[in-house]
Amino acid sequence: MKAGVFDSGVGGLTVLKSILNAQMFDEIIYYGDTARVPYGVKDKQTIISFSLEALDFFAPHQIDILIIACNTASAYAIEAMREKSSVPIVGVIEPGIQAVKNKIQDKNASILIIATKATIASKAYECKLQACGYHQIQSLATGLFVPIVEEGMKDGEILDATMWHYFSSIATPPQAIILGCTHFPLIAPAIDGFFKHQSQLIHSGDAIVDYLQKNHKIHQNPSKKQAKLHFYASSNVSSLEKTAQEWLFSK
Ligand code: DGL
Repeated sequence: MKAGVFDSGVGGLTVLKSILNAQMFDEIIYYGDTARVPYGVKDKQTIISFSLEALDFFAPHQIDILIIACNTASAYAIEAMREKSSVPIVGVIEPGIQAVKNKIQDKNASILIIATKATIASKAYECKLQACGYHQIQSLATGLFVPIVEEGMKDGEILDATMWHYFSSIATPPQAIILGCTHFPLIAPAIDGFFKHQSQLIHSGDAIVDYLQKNHKIHQNPSKKQAKLHFYASSNVSSLEKTAQEWLFSK
């Protein structure tokens, strides 16, 4: 089975890592729109048109399923992409909601969503959580974490100061935190530490693996072989490949 993974840039590698570890596919085509990242500060129409162009990119690759690793593209463009696609498309929002439902049964639980400006403005997570009965939801646009992760700062003063900047008004650790941006799993240990290890962190990559198993009946490949990987980018593919080496294959 051949999967496509689409992201605005390198961040989707965090989702790719979970999918690779789950050994679900024989072949994976990763496409990052590195020429036009970030999507998280753009408007709805732009995000939809860039995402539809990404769909066109996958057309000659004959994939069986497309995974949108990008939260921002999932929040705005999944319906438009599904309308034009002949293969199933899975984004990260629905799996994230499913993961919350699996982990947090108490509808009074406090849930924090952190994501890009655009994802927060879309209210995509918020509306779906509310529809499930959760009502103590706080949403925070924490876009500064994106360049910090890209600079490789997974701990240290700058990350600490940024966490204080965003989180200092939160009096008690939320019961769940949705890491609603591809980059945030890379700083999950720091966020976990900030909230004194008292919050359940929802990671899109893990959530999507569970979702693919439960909703699409895609399980571990019988051969248990590592998928063949192909990387494509709208700009500087060698830089994407270098980041992939670092993020996918080192600790
Ligand atoms: N991939 C984006 C997301 O998950 C983060 C980077 C961007 O803004 O494009 O929302």
